[in-house]
This record gives sequence, C-alpha cells and structure tokens, in this order.
Amino acid sequence: MSKAAITGIHGYVPDYVLTNAELERMVDTNDEWITSRTGIKERHILKGEGMGSSHMGAKAVEGLLKKLNTKPEEIDLLICATTTPDYVFPCTANLICDMVGIRNVGSFDVQAACSGFLYALTIGSQFIETGKYKKVIIVGADKMSAIVDYTDRTTCILFGDGAGAVMLEPSEEGLGILDSIIRSDGVGQNHLFQKAGGSRYPPTHETVEKRWHYVYQDGPSVFKFAVKNMADVSAEIMERNHLAGNDVAWLVPHQANKRIIEATAHRMGIESDKVMMNIQKYGNTTAATIPLCLYDYEPQLKKGDNLILAAFGGGFTWGAAYVKWAY
Ligand SMILES: CC(C)(COP(=O)(O)OP(=O)(O)OC[C@H]1O[C@@H](n2cnc3c(N)ncnc32)[C@H](O)[C@@H]1OP(=O)(O)O)[C@@H](O)C(=O)NCCC(=O)NCCS
Repeated sequence: MSKAAITGIHGYVPDYVLTNAELERMVDTNDEWITSRTGIKERHILKGEGMGSSHMGAKAVEGLLKKLNTKPEEIDLLICATTTPDYVFPCTANLICDMVGIRNVGSFDVQAACSGFLYALTIGSQFIETGKYKKVIIVGADKMSAIVDYTDRTTCILFGDGAGAVMLEPSEEGLGILDSIIRSDGVGQNHLFQKAGGSRYPPTHETVEKRWHYVYQDGPSVFKFAVKNMADVSAEIMERNHLAGNDVAWLVPHQANKRIIEATAHRMGIESDKVMMNIQKYGNTTAATIPLCLYDYEPQLKKGDNLILAAFGGGFTWGAAYVKWAY
C-alpha cells in the first residue's frame, strides 16, 4: 500500500502584527508576564471587512499550487481544518476551493479545535493510502481574532491568525505519514469553548451581552491536560514505531504555550534544538500552528527525517503523527 507523503508546504500570515506592547495598552498585562508564561512576543491579525479564515487558507493554497507547479484541475480533494469557519455553512473548504479555482471535487471542513490539522491530515492520508486519490490538499486556517475577547487578558494574549497548507501524494518509497493517533474526550468540553453561536445557544442579544461568543478558557485545567496527553500520545507513537529520542529529527508540536512544548519534549527525551518553535512570532493559530511550523522550518528538513507531529485542543482532542519527510 502507498504511503501519503507531504510533497509541499506553504504558509500565510496576515500583515498586521499585534505586539505584547500593544496588548499592554489594551488590557492589564505586560511583556514580561506574557513572555515568561507563554513564550509569545507577537501575533498576526487579519484586518479588513469581510475577510475570514478562507482568505488566509486560499493564500496558503495558492502559494502551494504555485510552488509545486500544480494546476487546480489536478487536485482530487481539499480538507480544511478550522474552528473559525467563515460561516456556519457553507464550509470553509468549499470557499477556499472557489477562491483558488478548484472545482467539482470533494471539499469539507474538520472541526477538532487545535488538533484539527492533525485530524485532517490523518483523514486525508487514508484517501491516498487506499489509492482513491493522487493529490489531496490539507489546510489549517484560523482567524482566532474573530472569537477572542480583547478585554480578557487571560485569553487575548494567546491567539493569532494564520493558515498553512500541505499537499499529500502517494509515495512508494515508504516516505510520508507512517502512523497517526487521534483521540478525544468530551470531559474537556467546559474547559475550552465558545459558549454561544452554535445550535445549542444561537445568537441573541443576551448571549452577546454575556460575551458568550468569545473563547472561554480555564487556562490551568487546559495546561495540565495538554502536558499530560500530548506527551503521552507522542511517547506512545514513538514506542509503537520503535523510535528513541535520538531517532527523531524534529518534534513538531502544536504551538499553544512554550512551557507545554518544553515539557512534552523533555518527556520524549528530545533536545530543544530538535523542537520546532515559532510561537514567539505567531502565538496560537489553532489549526495553523503545525503547518506554519513545517513551513518555517522547511529549509532545514531533509528527505528521510523522522518527524513527530503532536497536538491537543478543545474538546478535549489530541493526537500525534509519525511522518518520514519526503523531500
Ligand atoms: C493561560 C495560561 C498562560 C495562564 O498561565 P498560568 O501560569 O496558568 O496562570 P494563572 O491562570 O494561574 O494566573 C496566574 C495569575 O496571573 C494573572 N494573569 C492572567 N493573565 C494575565 C496576563 N495576561 N497578564 C498578567 N497577569 C495575568 C491571573 O489573573 C493570576 O493572578 P492571581 O494569581 O492574582 O489570581 C496557562 O494556563 C496556559 O497556557 N494554559 C493552557 C492554554 C492553552 O494551551 N490553550 C490553548 C489550547 S489549544
């Protein structure tokens, strides 16, 4: 059976940079607190009326197609992981396809909060492995600024906007996504969520007044969950693939908090210089963190490198993937 190899990657972040200094002027916080507790220095914010996650996703996909010299007509399927879809429906994947000229193929969204990209990658790889499709695009795109309360200092410092896209194609050389684990547990549903705007609490004056359309987070509970589960699942995927810390070229962790990333790497026995980290520039871009890491580190990646991708998010959701880099 073929493996699904990542054959290209492209990322996009909007121009506007929201620094810790600017946040100091908006809420009662300071650069020292944000840097020491999270590792974040700045994040990018999508400004402009009528611009949603699809705008950034389409930029990432356009760049990917150009880089790979691939025409939109060659694409068999596009999956978009997002927690901030442009609309409740139609899905953001449909909109991205329209923007870049991909027509008459399946496209759908995956909603698994910050684990969304890992989930979408796992789903997309199945279509390649079975031989059904030859070119599948996986996008992670989130405009977190649309649902972040910029009067809440405990959450507004964490998130940013961005998108990344990868191409999946068959590999007969044993390269690509060799294993993945995706998990969820609804025990986390009240620790990290948006209370209103869905079918349980549709928008009303009251929900708006109560600020229920913003991210609600119990930070310390999420922190504890993240450290344990992201490390556990990463250790599990390494063990079942007989990988020791030395065998891993790169850990590619979801970028939510520098301290969570460091704790995960420590548990896996991976040195800090083998851990992809760009949280200082982008903050937590939800489904976009992992593809943006791969994009930033692409020049340093070598064919055959063993990568462990690891994520966690609201739900709770979490997971890991073992990827042998294909180029
Ligand atoms: C949010 C998070 C950074 C907070 O860090 P923490 O060390 O847990 O801090 P606490 O929430 O315990 O707050 C400590 C103090 O700092 C204060 N504080 C919170 N945000 C602050 C800010 N931006 N600036 C200054 N002080 C702040 C709190 O009010 C609290 O004050 P108190 O002791 O007087 O009550 C951390 O819990 C975290 O990263 N959690 C996981 C979040 C995450 O990964 N989310 C995405 C999941 S995909």
